[in-house]
Amino acid sequence: MEKNIIIPESVAIIMDGNGRWASLRNLPRIQGHREGVKAVRKAVEFSYNNGIKTLSLFAFSTENWRRPNDEVMFLMNLFKETIDREFDELIEKGIKIKFLSRRDELPDFVIQRIDRSEEKSKNNEKMNLLIALNYGGRYDIVQAVNKIVEKGVEKIDEEEFSEYLLTYPFKDPDLLIRTSGEMRISNFFLYQISYTELYFTEKLWPDFDENDFEEAIKVYSRRKRKFGSI
Ligand code: IPE
Ligand code: IPE
Ligand code: MG
Repeated sequence: MEKNIIIPESVAIIMDGNGRWASLRNLPRIQGHREGVKAVRKAVEFSYNNGIKTLSLFAFSTENWRRPNDEVMFLMNLFKETIDREFDELIEKGIKIKFLSRRDELPDFVIQRIDRSEEKSKNNEKMNLLIALNYGGRYDIVQAVNKIVEKGVEKIDEEEFSEYLLTYPFKDPDLLIRTSGEMRISNFFLYQISYTELYFTEKLWPDFDENDFEEAIKVYSRRKRKFGSI
């Protein structure tokens, strides 16, 4: 990569536009999801090769259960297949895998794979891959509050609060990318993005490649972050 580039330590991506990618080609939406997996592989490789320490990917939201059952079931099976096919290689490369998930709603066959991937990669340190699979920003905050209440903690500060979030102990994203042109957060990270740089691109997720990722980082590098200061 060229000069004057600042590699963000932590990047989060809302991977949106699979359905539209398929519809544009008169294909069923599920074909877009299949193609989306290839873009995931590229994004992970790009992050790994360029020294991005933490990559968080929004794969399924707590609201995505509202979709037709056959699409939801297809996605659950796709997560299973993808973990089975791809994750051993990622783990061998030294990637720590963490799922950010509301677990009670997920099928057992997904939970088993979540547990196995996390266990097998827990001592890895080269890169962190956080997969938000059945994640909601509001769920995250509320589950944190419930843990705090259960512990009987009476008072807490911002730093301590963040220790109860599903993302703990990982750093807040420096850059959040959303594909497909939608300019919203759709209940992804809420607490964690207070000073994250936001980047939106029209590219549909299956078309998002290394060049698009590099462009996002170039734009990020030109931003002046102030964190409330001057
Ligand atoms: C993102 O693509 C993938 C998931 C939400 C699982 P979409 O399926 O939302 O694609 P569009 O937004 O309908 O094009
Ligand atoms: C956000 O995309 C969720 C994921 C990318 C997993 P959606 O497609 O669900 O978001 P909305 O419905 O357009 O806001
Ligand atoms: Mg969408």
